[in-house]
Amino acid sequence: NDKEIIGSQKQQIAKLFEESLRAAFPDIPDVQPLVAICNDPKHGDYQCNNAMSLWNKIKGKGTQFKGPQPVGKAIIENLPASEMIENCSIAGPGFVNIVLARQWIAKSLQKMLIDGIETWAPKLPVKRTVVDFSSPNIAKEMHVGHLRSTIIGDTLARMLEFSNVDVLRRNHVGDWGTQFGMLIEFLYEKFPNWEAGSAPAIGDLEVFYKASKQRFDNDAEFKERAQKAVVSLQGGDEKYRMAWAQICEISRKEFQKVYERLGVHLEEKGESFYNPYIPKALEMLNEKGLIEESEGARVIFIEGKKIPLIVVKRDGGFNYASTDLTALWYRLNEEKADWMIYVTDVGQREHFEMVFSAAKRAGWLPPNENDYPKASHVGFGLVLGEDGKRFRTRSTEVVKLVDLLDDAKKRCKAALEERGKTKDWTAEELEQTAEAVGYGAVKYADLKNNRLTNYTFNFDQMLSDKGNTAVYLLYAHARICSIIRKSGKDIEELKKSAAIDLAHPDERMLGLHLLQFAEIVEDACTSLLPHLVCEYLYNISEDFTKFYTNCQVVGSAEETSRLLLCEATAVVMRKCFHLLGITPVYKI
Ligand code: ARG
Repeated sequence: NDKEIIGSQKQQIAKLFEESLRAAFPDIPDVQPLVAICNDPKHGDYQCNNAMSLWNKIKGKGTQFKGPQPVGKAIIENLPASEMIENCSIAGPGFVNIVLARQWIAKSLQKMLIDGIETWAPKLPVKRTVVDFSSPNIAKEMHVGHLRSTIIGDTLARMLEFSNVDVLRRNHVGDWGTQFGMLIEFLYEKFPNWEAGSAPAIGDLEVFYKASKQRFDNDAEFKERAQKAVVSLQGGDEKYRMAWAQICEISRKEFQKVYERLGVHLEEKGESFYNPYIPKALEMLNEKGLIEESEGARVIFIEGKKIPLIVVKRDGGFNYASTDLTALWYRLNEEKADWMIYVTDVGQREHFEMVFSAAKRAGWLPPNENDYPKASHVGFGLVLGEDGKRFRTRSTEVVKLVDLLDDAKKRCKAALEERGKTKDWTAEELEQTAEAVGYGAVKYADLKNNRLTNYTFNFDQMLSDKGNTAVYLLYAHARICSIIRKSGKDIEELKKSAAIDLAHPDERMLGLHLLQFAEIVEDACTSLLPHLVCEYLYNISEDFTKFYTNCQVVGSAEETSRLLLCEATAVVMRKCFHLLGITPVYKI
């Protein structure tokens, strides 16, 4: 860990321009350099966009400058010498176009190959984040929405972890609602001899859940008993506690099957965990004068919202909102997180807006939402079936997620065998590849869309080896690995003995885009949009195809340089896969 993390390319360029701005305009403090990828690659690789706004600040105030163009010129003239930049030029009203030096790009790639891609990790202004994701409800179906939350949340956690942020991966399971009263009461009816250590074969909890719900809705006597059961449970009655704990355990095992297939790790801190802290948290809000009485309930009114946030129900019980307010307080003060990220469907946006607003009113969060500590809701759209309706296997049933993942794997295995290239593979190799490609395909199909949009679940499409799919990308990566393998060269040796040159324009383009990896991850983290990484990964594979079509690798005069460029591409693609929770394969 003694290797220096250099941050993204954009951050490095910005640093140069920060120095130049300070030197050229010493009287204007704290000008943030505005560096971006060049709109038109014909003009340059990057651009610095400070001249216009600087000119607006100084014009008419006796400045020696005669317009934004000379301002831009001064920015260029004051740039410290750097091997990074080949040249800068002015365009339009003072845009500074930047062309990176080819040797610099090559050298950076080579350095990354030797020191590891970790040295390219972006630098983010946060130390510790909570990513609250997956979060299914005990005894209820873990539906496809929870699958999306699991996939998106895991990716965000991976990107932040890669960026050296401490990430608390939190499974905020719904383990503390009134549903437990009716469920436990119902189960005791079915299994009167239920005791600790003698778990009845409860099997499919959901079936019991639905049956108990029906009883609850239609049988007044049962309803009363169920409500008493909630009180007993929350009061700590041992018999009810035991039943509750067992139910949670059964559900947990079911959830775990999904997490295992997806390779996702989470730490459960369910709603029940925060329960003991709720009275204290509400007391703090009350002291700030936030809590009011309304129609028998205790509520917080939020500016701009018609309906207040209920924090104590009419029956005196706590709810989803009281738990979330308390969890937010806990994460801020006990866990010392400076960014709280919540991954749920867009349907919960309003809930989180209200919770965050209340926290701002209480002074727990700063008024400006760009300041830290910060809370962000990461919403996502629906998964649709071919019929354009909510995705289900049969019209009445939600999809069983484990079956769905197993199905993806099975289909991949069949497709691999059909290709006829797997004859000399071991059974284990086939199994692992089918798993990597199958689960990868499901994840990628979800992640490649902007998360806010709905997307249609289509096995044929996501398992196709053409187009923007995981299958295509995994194969592309495996093909690069096979080019290197078949060259017979020792790539570890080449990293040290050979040099990368990027003489051909397609080589330079690929190299430049590889160098942009860190800033893409940075953008994906700050905007919480994983599809940016998918887009990038796909573009890299396109750049590679172009390069490989136009530049001979094996047997050419540039062979060693080009093999290193192949290796750099494979390393970057692999890291993208890793960030997306997809296991790369090396053989196809
Ligand atoms: N259990 C909730 C659901 O299934 C999601 C919880 C999300 N996290 C939170 N802190 N509210 O809808």
